[in-house]
Amino acid sequence: MKNIVILISGGGSNMAAIVNTAQREHWSEKYGARVAAVISNKADAKGLVFARDHGIATEVLDHKAFASREAFDAALAQLIDRFDMPGHPVLVVLAGFMRILTPGFAEHYAGRLTNIHPSLLPAFTGLHTHQRALDAGCKFAGATVHLVTAELDHGPILDQAVVPVLPGDTADTLAARILTQEHLIYPRAVAQLLQK
Ligand code: GAR
Repeated sequence: MKNIVILISGGGSNMAAIVNTAQREHWSEKYGARVAAVISNKADAKGLVFARDHGIATEVLDHKAFASREAFDAALAQLIDRFDMPGHPVLVVLAGFMRILTPGFAEHYAGRLTNIHPSLLPAFTGLHTHQRALDAGCKFAGATVHLVTAELDHGPILDQAVVPVLPGDTADTLAARILTQEHLIYPRAVAQLLQK
């Protein structure tokens, strides 16, 4: 059984989309995979409630309790690696996890660490992607699922979704249109990785 560990910081709608798709598409029978745990760096992340309600193990690791990024990432890796066992390899899925990870962390999980970013990478890495797309006069925007490497919001692209920017769009309306697409491409990209 492959263990999927999903990292969140907030609403967790992408996490929920993956959990729901895994159930609907019978990932355990098809791919020998299950969502084993959801970890948040914020105790009040709404997504934790969804995970608990679905019988998924949850953990909170507050980054503010650590003196350095390295110390936090080491503790995070220790938590994740509890689900990484012989015959039960772990796949780490960042789903709205709003922490910059150290190069060491990315290397530790190379090839099995994914992220979703709300822009058409390589455009608009970092924060405030929707407003920046509007400010740049983009006619299209979207989201990208990629493997995580040491460089922030880079790494091999696994899937992308494109949406139109509509007249009168605000960062919020554009974000909502993109998020709907995120919920389609992230489960699909994870399912493809599970088949490798
Ligand atoms: C999503 O739009 C995701 O692409 C973005 O945060 C949101 C999380 O929503 N991630 C990033 O900006 C990462 N740099 P969710 O918690 O409802 O899945």
